[in-house]
Amino acid sequence: MSIKILNNDEKKWFLETKNTVYVIGVDEDKNLQHLYWGEKLPYTSDYPGVLLLKESPFDNFEQIIKEEFSPWGGIRYKEPGLKVIYEDQVRDLILKYKTYKLIDSDKCKTLIIYLIDSAYNLEVELNYRLIEEYDLIERWVNIKNKGSQSVQIKQILSAQWHLPDIQNYRLSYLYGRWAGETKLSRIELGYGKKVLESRRGITSHQFNPWFAVDNGQADEDIGKVYYGILGWSGNWKIVFEKDSYGRLQIGGGINDFDFSWQLKPNECFVTPKFVAGHTTNGFGDASRKLHHYQLDYILPGNANHKIRPVLYNSWEATSFNVNEEGQKKLAEKAASLGVELFVLDDGWFGERNDDTAGLGDWYVNKKKFPHDLTSLISYVNELGMDFGLWVEPEMVNKNSKLYNLHPDWVYHFPNRPRSESRNQFVLNLAKKEVVEYIYDFINTLLGTYNIKFIKWDMNRPFSEPGWSEASKFQQQEIWVCHVQGLYQILDRLRRKYPEVIFESCSGGGGRIDLGILQRTDQVWVSDNTDAFDRLKIQEGFSYAYAPKIMMSWVTDSPNWLNQRKLSLEYRFNVAMMGGLGIGGNLNNWSKNEIKLAKEKVIQYKKIREIIQHGDQYRLLPSWKGNLIAVEYVNKNKDKAVLFVFLHSQQFGEKLPPIKLNGLISDFLYQYQDDNKKIILSGKALKEIGLKVNLKGDFDSKLIILEKQNKRND
Ligand code: GLA
Repeated sequence: MSIKILNNDEKKWFLETKNTVYVIGVDEDKNLQHLYWGEKLPYTSDYPGVLLLKESPFDNFEQIIKEEFSPWGGIRYKEPGLKVIYEDQVRDLILKYKTYKLIDSDKCKTLIIYLIDSAYNLEVELNYRLIEEYDLIERWVNIKNKGSQSVQIKQILSAQWHLPDIQNYRLSYLYGRWAGETKLSRIELGYGKKVLESRRGITSHQFNPWFAVDNGQADEDIGKVYYGILGWSGNWKIVFEKDSYGRLQIGGGINDFDFSWQLKPNECFVTPKFVAGHTTNGFGDASRKLHHYQLDYILPGNANHKIRPVLYNSWEATSFNVNEEGQKKLAEKAASLGVELFVLDDGWFGERNDDTAGLGDWYVNKKKFPHDLTSLISYVNELGMDFGLWVEPEMVNKNSKLYNLHPDWVYHFPNRPRSESRNQFVLNLAKKEVVEYIYDFINTLLGTYNIKFIKWDMNRPFSEPGWSEASKFQQQEIWVCHVQGLYQILDRLRRKYPEVIFESCSGGGGRIDLGILQRTDQVWVSDNTDAFDRLKIQEGFSYAYAPKIMMSWVTDSPNWLNQRKLSLEYRFNVAMMGGLGIGGNLNNWSKNEIKLAKEKVIQYKKIREIIQHGDQYRLLPSWKGNLIAVEYVNKNKDKAVLFVFLHSQQFGEKLPPIKLNGLISDFLYQYQDDNKKIILSGKALKEIGLKVNLKGDFDSKLIILEKQNKRND
């Protein structure tokens, strides 16, 4: 595993991970050409060389070669990696290879290739960081203005990936909306472009910046899959472009829509990271690699050692009607179930009695909490739980003290209406004083109270993104400045309060991406807590993100959204597939329900290490039929957990056995099914499978398997 460099007639770099190679070369005109990405080949001479000839006078050279990072300039018509306007209004960019550097620090090797537009001294650094054990390459671009005049950046992508020639490219991606996020869609990519993007200022509920491409035949365990994921929490885009030669280029990064960035002399602009990988072992392997990469490289702190606590959140129980007495009562009940973290959601501050007022006024509402928050927090702590708090820092209601004081702090254009959504406006985080205000109020909260968890919400997309006092050059920078401001606040808070857990929420799953996950520990995947719907949302989520990141609550039945009635057991089993939370009104739970809830929390605590840190297998995905099965296997492969859900039994049909995965063939595993202890080898569990007895509608089962030293049956 290494970065090898060949310096024969032509220069070539071989970026080797455990199982893959990515090859780049420089041609005689100093263009950087993509040469290969896929499985390792036996000999160096097997890899293709750079293209040298202009093959046809009509198909110009720039269109025939696969450019590693294409400028917009010369005879080029495809989606560019970089498009600029120089101060003299020249809009032609010529990037040629200059030099390279290898960095072998921390746990990764990085190759930097320098390109230059020498007429203007604009330098572009292409960064490739190898995540060798997971066959992933992180790419990003630094652009440095070493010239004496400003440059306007009109488009800058983080990376362009070239896929090998495949007959039919099939794209898998995640789409959705509020209460229906991260659903999987699959389409064949025809000639032309397919764009996934957000123009909403946040990552968005509508599309998540993840993709996977195969030849239409890959499955969970077999087949070649190329996949990638972007780390940016604002406007982004990923463009899939199949050219007229049938080749696919995938470019992604910050969205160029309504974007412009002025790069002054000596300034540098760094793009977000776009990570991608290749596997020959199907979508399941691709997901597991992304999951472990997130735990080892993305999540803050030492994510692999910290287990997520079981939390209780009062939002669905009390909505805005929170008060000291009511929350204390809920806290008692939550503690009796074994909950470890009690979270007070919306409604505790300012004049926040519904969603029309209060956002921006982050002082404790004394009518609801006459003893400040201290009394509630001490009570929660005495009950043996940590305390967590909801905030929505980037927002303000028109009806608030903050808006009265600073109406100019929100994005707006002069002489234009300010559109409200959920009765609120977005604060302009491009302004330093707004960033300071937000940092200060959270710093005060964390410094004053014993708060161990922050749920950071963001409940509306941007509109009228104007900043009246700013120069004309800064106007279209706000999309990026907002995200930079947000990241800066979170980074500062994390440095000062490293023990505090942060959850990213945006009206459910509107801000889930690798950028926010470098600063938050987990995400709220959806406001939809209907456990049946949730199975689909969680499944889509699992293609891109680790189960540990996924917070999931058990709420009341019938569910508020679909009015669906589901057993408490089913609701728990669904919520236990990630970080477990409880969000129902415990005051209304019967004795039997409380008893079952206690048992399930105990059970979850026994298996959460496997769920949060193990390998996840989508044995039977929802789109395959009536039965959903997901398995988790721990690192040593001596413990596994199987979740099975039946939608509806029909025609009295018996269910097929569930074939497990990821176990050691000759290990013996014991599990219990309807009071019967069964012992089978890993091989038998894979080849023959395990029978589950599910009946009727919406039945479910959780089966725990443990390695046995010898047969005792
Ligand atoms: C958003 C969140 C919910 C809840 C409410 C509070 O919708 O996704 O979980 O916190 O805001 O207003």
